[in-house]
Amino acid sequence: MQNNYDRIASVYDFLARLVLGRDHTRSKFALLDQVMPGDQVLYCGGGSGLNLPYLLHRVGRFGGVVYVEPSVRMTILAKDRIASGNVDFVDSMAQVPPTRVFDVVMTQYLLDILDDRELDRFFGEVGRRVLPGTRWLVVDFYPKAHKKAVWKTMIQFFRLLVNHPRRDLPAYDTFFERFGWKVQQQVEWQRGFMVAKVFRKEDNLADGG
Ligand SMILES: C[S@@+](CC[C@H](N)C(=O)[O-])C[C@H]1O[C@@H](n2cnc3c(N)ncnc32)[C@H](O)[C@@H]1O
Repeated sequence: MQNNYDRIASVYDFLARLVLGRDHTRSKFALLDQVMPGDQVLYCGGGSGLNLPYLLHRVGRFGGVVYVEPSVRMTILAKDRIASGNVDFVDSMAQVPPTRVFDVVMTQYLLDILDDRELDRFFGEVGRRVLPGTRWLVVDFYPKAHKKAVWKTMIQFFRLLVNHPRRDLPAYDTFFERFGWKVQQQVEWQRGFMVAKVFRKEDNLADGG
């Protein structure tokens, strides 16, 4: 079955660069120094894998990456970027055994495309595969007034092209708080429009309760 992102996979990075400039690339590499040799990384919605070679370099030969990407075309682009490395490509979280525990979770510009119900489910699924101390490296857009025209236009564009389900940007931080993740560090671009954060899992709250 064709994934909505298959349709735009070949132009996605070009468009992101055109609209968001170099800050988009910078944001995707920021905080990757948090990934240590030997780490097991759960990377969800990595798209074309722009930073996958660097991530594999960071985890080294004793670490590994599980790359969860439902778009076949995005996955092909990501695979084309790497010559070797310890990475498993899967197309959904259902293929990641709940018995597998990760040191690092990564999402970049993924949470903004999930509606609140999907976010609840996603945080629950991630929560079952981590332990207290796991770090979650997230990069996403925040609804800053000075960029309202940009994010409103992007949402409209994605609603038309990939059936994007939202009309707004999620209240990410309330999800992190509810599921027991505490912010440790953050970096911003374009006055807080694009923000990279490191969260740390504080307890065993996996269901948001
Ligand atoms: C907006 S793109 C972001 C791509 C890339 N992370 C970036 O920063 O440029 C969202 C990506 O998430 C993927 N995706 C959509 N739903 C997903 C889900 N439930 N789990 C994992 N990935 C998902 C899409 O196929 C797409 O490649």
